[in-house]
Amino acid sequence: MQLALRDITKRFGSLVANDHISLTVEPGEIHCLLGENGAGKSTLMNVLYGLYTADEGSIELDGVEQHFDGPGDAIAAGIGMVHQHFMLVPVFTVAENVMLGNESTGFAGSLDLGAARARVREISERFGFHVDPDAVVEELPVGVQQRVEIIKALSRDARVLVFDEPTAVLTPQETDELMAIMRQLAESGVGIVFITHKLREVRAVADRITVIRLGKVVGEASPTASNNELAALMVGREVELTVQKQPPTLGDEALVVEGLTVVDAAGITQLDGVSFTVRAGEILAVAGVQGNGQTELTEALLGLQDGVRGSARLDGQELVGRSVRKILDAGVGFVPEDRQVDGLVGTFTIAENLMLDRSFGKPFVSTGTVNQSLLRRFAEEKLAEYDVRAPGISTPAGSLSGGNQQKVVVARELSKDLRLLVAAQPTRGVDVGSIEFIHSQIVATRDSGVPVVVVSTELDEVAALADRIMVLYRGKVVGIVPADTPRDVLGLMMAGERPAEEVA
Ligand SMILES: Nc1ncnc2c1ncn2[C@@H]1O[C@H](COP(=O)(O)OP(=O)(O)OP(=O)(O)O)[C@@H](O)[C@H]1O
Ligand SMILES: [Mg+2]
Repeated sequence: MQLALRDITKRFGSLVANDHISLTVEPGEIHCLLGENGAGKSTLMNVLYGLYTADEGSIELDGVEQHFDGPGDAIAAGIGMVHQHFMLVPVFTVAENVMLGNESTGFAGSLDLGAARARVREISERFGFHVDPDAVVEELPVGVQQRVEIIKALSRDARVLVFDEPTAVLTPQETDELMAIMRQLAESGVGIVFITHKLREVRAVADRITVIRLGKVVGEASPTASNNELAALMVGREVELTVQKQPPTLGDEALVVEGLTVVDAAGITQLDGVSFTVRAGEILAVAGVQGNGQTELTEALLGLQDGVRGSARLDGQELVGRSVRKILDAGVGFVPEDRQVDGLVGTFTIAENLMLDRSFGKPFVSTGTVNQSLLRRFAEEKLAEYDVRAPGISTPAGSLSGGNQQKVVVARELSKDLRLLVAAQPTRGVDVGSIEFIHSQIVATRDSGVPVVVVSTELDEVAALADRIMVLYRGKVVGIVPADTPRDVLGLMMAGERPAEEVA
């Protein structure tokens, strides 16, 4: 099935998110959409999926013009979508979510729970997803939830499949697997639209690349183009792709973690006797395949986990057992791995989100009133500094593009008076032009004498930021090694193998 988007224009008020965009996707082709945060990629795909109605332009399938009044119409026409932000019902099981998706196609009742479970199992096995049909979605790690989204799309026999940043939440290995799946799907004749900010992935699978900037198509790029060429085309200027970083100036041991253990509600040990120290002015990068205790570690440090044993002392003060509020007030900054759940309130404005957990006191609130002019000035400044693409500081955070939401969270956390920074996947969904900026801000935080714990499943990010690297596997520390440890060694450690030499 050939897909043609012709002159699609979509406006939000005065903002033109898509400006006469034309694009075709041939059967069996992987067509990559590249563009900065806020360029209009997700908007275009939401038009295709019937979530938005275009103000102008048309959608054609095999030359026949389509009119989608909602996703149900798009799905029935053979369009599938894996969303950037999960659209799953958290309290439902995997199979129930897959069934729910199929009901919306108008074939309600055609797939009963038993059939849905079998379908999940079959797809899961075919692609090595390891997803239990009976697992409750909200209890699954982000990476597995993403796979449920993919299963849901695959379960509906889509002939054009849209992947909007599917790898943002996947581990390197899962990403490789997904690339192979996309190839397999394309070979079976499915047309694929693939949106990603990771240029390596583009080069690995793209048959064609279309670059969008400020809502317009600026051109096609060759899959053989270099990272620098692709980045420059996207951003419209040369981009520095590596951070300049001086050796750290190490202070005292600031964060001392001993025997930190998290046992979940089901009695499973998710974090097992983890011990490490981070000095003032040092970045410890926590590497590992997603789901090996990183979430539990960061949440335990923030007081967000139940069932925590052991100790984590910041400047001599115990964090374990303290409330989240007290820990934040003690100067701990936190970039959570899922910005939409823990990082932002979508209906609040950008300005409100920038002061979110400072609503109780200085500098923005005194005697119960918000100092609006101070907040406004601060928000304007952060918007400019972090290059957040938005109409203004009063824009609801929920209407920002994914990468711009991430920038708001990072801007807020890094602008606090910090004594410790804990950042999980700090550049998830952020475009190449802004990754370097966020990295330089994290390094600047370190250089101001703050201890930093960065969790990342991206080895590029680990390499860019780490002063030392700690690898977690199945909730345990495999080793703590120098920043220049070769990737293949880190890879083996991420699979649980102990390194030959360790840092004391
Ligand atoms: N529902 C909405 N209401 C108002 N503005 C919106 C809405 N959805 C998107 N926008 C705006 O449209 C523009 C394009 O956003 P879009 O989400 O398409 O970007 P994107 O290319 O997918 O970016 P990212 O790489 O960050 O995901 C942005 O300026 C965004 O703020
Ligand atoms: Mg997007």
